[in-house]
Amino acid sequence: MDKDIVLLAIESSCDETAAAVVKNGREVLSNVISSQIDLHTVYGGVVPEIASRKHVEKINQIIREALREAGLTLKEMDGIAVTYGPGLVGPLLVGVSAAKAISFATGIPLVGVHHIEGHISANYIENKELEPPFVCLVASGGHSHLVLVKDYGEYEIIGQTRDDAAGEAFDKVARAIGLGYPGGPKIDRLAKEGNAEAIHFPRAKVEENAYDFSFSGLKSAVLNYLNACGMKGEEICTADVAASFQQAVVEVLVEHSMHAVKQYGYDKFAIAGGVASNSALRLAFYERCRAEGIGFYHPSPILCTDNAAMIGTAGYYEYLRGVRSGLDLNAVPNLKLGEKV
Ligand code: KG4
Ligand code: ZN
Repeated sequence: MDKDIVLLAIESSCDETAAAVVKNGREVLSNVISSQIDLHTVYGGVVPEIASRKHVEKINQIIREALREAGLTLKEMDGIAVTYGPGLVGPLLVGVSAAKAISFATGIPLVGVHHIEGHISANYIENKELEPPFVCLVASGGHSHLVLVKDYGEYEIIGQTRDDAAGEAFDKVARAIGLGYPGGPKIDRLAKEGNAEAIHFPRAKVEENAYDFSFSGLKSAVLNYLNACGMKGEEICTADVAASFQQAVVEVLVEHSMHAVKQYGYDKFAIAGGVASNSALRLAFYERCRAEGIGFYHPSPILCTDNAAMIGTAGYYEYLRGVRSGLDLNAVPNLKLGEKV
């Protein structure tokens, strides 16, 4: 048996300060997440400056907690995996600086990890049998990507959003119907009480690429509907709006993804990112994949939203491929998947 490889992982790309210890890529020894959601709720979204300051306050404590929960010390780490992009530059810099400082002080190698690669890799943690190749839909607050996962660390983006990300649409619609931030989980909950057929909102297709997404038209349609009701003095059933909007998003995500799986001839499909924790989306994919004989994989909700365990998993496969980052590793806010800096 080869020697175990244990990584300390750090994630701070948005509003979660997170650290984890992951053994051999798929065994999570600890996964500590400190969410700043309450801090940002009053502003209706993440305020980068406030997020950075909170990360600075929290990061050392969260790293210490992750090591303590794992029952290990820094000396026992084989590497430090850290998200270096994409994300908000201030928040990213906090994690990257902490990781570099530890690496410099201890000599433990540093592995820079792509945030989206982390989201995709979250699928490996609870699905021990899952191996590439597969198609993955990554739907989060900042991204809506359809990705061919050809091998560990080998990705091809075949579709992406032309405007708003799926999670962003959830957040904006939630704000419009007075649910507050973050909108996804709130719409998910409210939609259970509504009728998804009550209002027909558009399902946007992008002419030039069948795998690309566009959610801004849908968002505008919801806003127009709310305005029109307001002008006519009609009462708005927010549960119906939530359910009908959610249904429109789910249908587009499912149709595009299944089309890709078939066209590219894959037999496995996975979802990732915050929106992947949406209950209607999970159910729709579960049923559709079962009907079509496609293996369906998804992480638990806690591993869908931002966390460091997924960074430890992605970092492990990068580590195995020999990837090591220098102490000049920098935050790259718009890092592309597959791009190495
Ligand atoms: O992956 P994530 O934690 O952060 C990014 O990398 O963006 O995703 C956050 C996004 C937010 O837009 C949030 O509203 C959405 O994921 N989200 C959901 C649900 N839970 C989180 N969207 C729909 N349904 C949910 N249950
Ligand atoms: Zn994320």
